[in-house]
Amino acid sequence: RSSLTILGLESSCDDTAAAVVRSTDETSDILASVVYGQSDLHAAFGGVVPEIAARAHAEKLDTCVKQALTNANLTLSDIDAIAVTAGPGLIGGVLSGVMCAKGIAAASGLPLIGVNHLAGHALTPRLTDNIAYPYLMLLVSGGHCQFLIVRGCDDFSRLGGTIDDAPGEAFDKTARLLGLPQPGGPGVEREAEKGEAARFRFPRPLLDRPGCDMSFSGLKTAVLRARDALISEKNGLSRQDRADLCAGFQEAVSDVLAEKTRRALDIYMAETPETPTLAVAGGVAANRTIRTKLEAVSYETGVGFVAPPLSLCTDNAAMIAYAGIELYRAGHRDGLDLAARPRWPL
Ligand code: KG4
Ligand code: ZN
Repeated sequence: RSSLTILGLESSCDDTAAAVVRSTDETSDILASVVYGQSDLHAAFGGVVPEIAARAHAEKLDTCVKQALTNANLTLSDIDAIAVTAGPGLIGGVLSGVMCAKGIAAASGLPLIGVNHLAGHALTPRLTDNIAYPYLMLLVSGGHCQFLIVRGCDDFSRLGGTIDDAPGEAFDKTARLLGLPQPGGPGVEREAEKGEAARFRFPRPLLDRPGCDMSFSGLKTAVLRARDALISEKNGLSRQDRADLCAGFQEAVSDVLAEKTRRALDIYMAETPETPTLAVAGGVAANRTIRTKLEAVSYETGVGFVAPPLSLCTDNAAMIAYAGIELYRAGHRDGLDLAARPRWPL
């Protein structure tokens, strides 16, 4: 067939997702994309509980797959292969997805393709904007933060990244410190809109060092100190205090990401003769302040900028199905012995 239709499954963190993507040589279409979030299950615990996540994935995956096929108005006989996130992530969740995919593959005889979750994020700009290889990717999520040169669906090189927390983790921890719900990013962003970023001058770690490595763990400690100082001064936090803390924190994260992106572009442009494109992906790329600053950097440097729509920045299965399409075309196939990998660097 000249067109390829792949069913994708994702369950590596706290979203259970299934999607159907169809690609021809020129275009890709998301025929269906279903995401069941689990945040209400984990809300009381202040973070994702791996055991609860794994059980919820196992319970929801079948429904999710059926829903995706129904929404796409297709049956398994219209599908060419099953793509599934095989890592990195919480192992129980990844296993739930891999077992579900193996079950479908075994029953239908369809080929199975294990997809690296990070490759799914990193290839999303090709799904949404059809951009050409190579490009520079800033991948920023709850668990990851790295600059990658993306040359192909299985050809990535890392220019640098965080040496401690990922920015999403810093957003989540800051939210927890300020009594905002998890995952923290959207709540902190909402508060920050009402806040005055200049009131707190939080550190911009590693900006004094060359290269594009980053550090975010000191930032949440700085937020903690500022919060505690306010609490002991006034016996509590006002709404405005909280908004200002969020704004100051978000400003610091976005400044670091912008400056390090400038440096990553310098390194990348020294290596690549083609007109470069800067693409961002991962949950933190849903943040509007961060997107705006990165877009400004690309404008200053004269490179193209691509940021997928918000719903395709956070975890979803369309990106896994799409990565599956590229891997399938490149000849990748996995057997029923496909392993779930908690760690799997690109
Ligand atoms: O890519 P993702 O859905 O899951 C993985 O980590 O793979 O990213 C989730 C992370 C969470 O830490 C969440 O707080 C963060 O992305 N996030 C945001 C925003 N939306 C989600 N961070 C900042 N601003 C947002 N609007
Ligand atoms: Zn992710």
